[in-house]
Amino acid sequence: MATPTPNDASARSLDALSPFDPELLRDPWDYYRRLREEAPVHRDPGTGIFLVSTYELVTEAIRDFETFSNRFGRVMGGASALPKEVVEVAKEGYPPVDTMLTADPPEQRRFRKLVNKAFSVGRVDKLEPRIQAIADELIQGFAGGGAIDLTTAFAQPLSLTVIADQLGVPRKDLPTFRRWTDGFVAQLGQMADLETQVESAKMIVEFQRYFAERLEERRQSPREDIISDIVHATVEGERSLDVPECLSILQQLLVAGNETTASALAEGIWLLIRNPDQLELVQNDLERVPALVEEVLRLATPTANMWRVTTKDTRLGGVDIPANSMCLLRYAAANRDPEKFPDPDRLDVDRENVADHIAFGAGIHFCVGAALARKEMTVGFRTLLERFEGFRLQPGAAPPEHRPNILLWGFDSLPIELSPRS
Ligand code: HEM
Repeated sequence: MATPTPNDASARSLDALSPFDPELLRDPWDYYRRLREEAPVHRDPGTGIFLVSTYELVTEAIRDFETFSNRFGRVMGGASALPKEVVEVAKEGYPPVDTMLTADPPEQRRFRKLVNKAFSVGRVDKLEPRIQAIADELIQGFAGGGAIDLTTAFAQPLSLTVIADQLGVPRKDLPTFRRWTDGFVAQLGQMADLETQVESAKMIVEFQRYFAERLEERRQSPREDIISDIVHATVEGERSLDVPECLSILQQLLVAGNETTASALAEGIWLLIRNPDQLELVQNDLERVPALVEEVLRLATPTANMWRVTTKDTRLGGVDIPANSMCLLRYAAANRDPEKFPDPDRLDVDRENVADHIAFGAGIHFCVGAALARKEMTVGFRTLLERFEGFRLQPGAAPPEHRPNILLWGFDSLPIELSPRS
């Protein structure tokens, strides 16, 4: 074993490691293992944040939603958490409000009811031919094989086009959508410098203005799309949603519905490249694609971490957590817990409990878009594996580098080569 250097995280105590250290965020797996083994509920002394890392304890916290609240909006852009330059820009837009992800029952249930129908398994099944058509159109761009960037040529445009179609925005606006997503992702990551934060805030204001106009258009003349559904929705005779609430929901759908699914698709191909036995297994039996989807979700866990805030003094895993503490539920660490998934770092599509992962969370905040994400991944992997073979990293290319983002795990580029299947 190599002798640890002073910079080597494995040589330092957990207390000496910052959960926001970019190096740890880029390569967190050994850190996660240590958290699970040494301190499944660990208070980070630098920030006072409680890190929860085993499968059992993460699911226990998720299910106790009255104690572990999702009203963590203030960490992700509440005025008190932001530099004044960012607050100045944000003032030009609509005020942030808490809807699905950042709300608790009963409000959260009310918002969920509005969007659940749009993303139900039945409705998503009907979308399959459209998702397939988008995938087929994208692979036209590299039908002859060769060198491509899988992220920008396939994974990102597939998920972006699907969600933009669902929201009912024209394809010509897709590049703008991509920029907005990058802005939201940077804000969520909480790692950006001031200039990037100001830029992200400007993009969010742009996004709000664009959608405020679309909402008004649909208010006057509804169409068959989610913007119209949201603007005209009423639940149990309550008032309809106001513009900031609609914008908050649309923002969640855009980011959650786009970035995470794109990451899962690109991570999946990267995992297959590094596991040729599994690539061969699935390629020879495409019936295994749904199991591949689940195993990729477990190992990639694109929503690597999620916040909670305690509403009262509590105890988890034998550790006292005071009221109003920020907790980081480490879904990615839980999904590699050997107590739940033997040989957890291995991609194994034949794993017995392949669908037991919590990549979509669990309980009342279970991902609204899970059926859509699974469908996009199934169509995406099936199309690539049916049409191409010889997946490999481009000669001389460095392995993809993950973004240092506290919540979302993913990379911006995957330079690969592939050949049409003979
Ligand atoms: C592979 C892709 C995806 C992953 C890994 C993922 C992951 C998650 C996770 C872990 C949560 C729970 C957060 C918590 O516990 O607080 C969540 C919630 C959510 N997801 Fe996804 N998601 C994905 C795709 C999508 C898609 C396609 C959409 C929309 C079309 C979407 C919309 C949402 C929304 C709105 C919530 C908040 C629900 C609530 O709090 O009630 N997600 N997602």
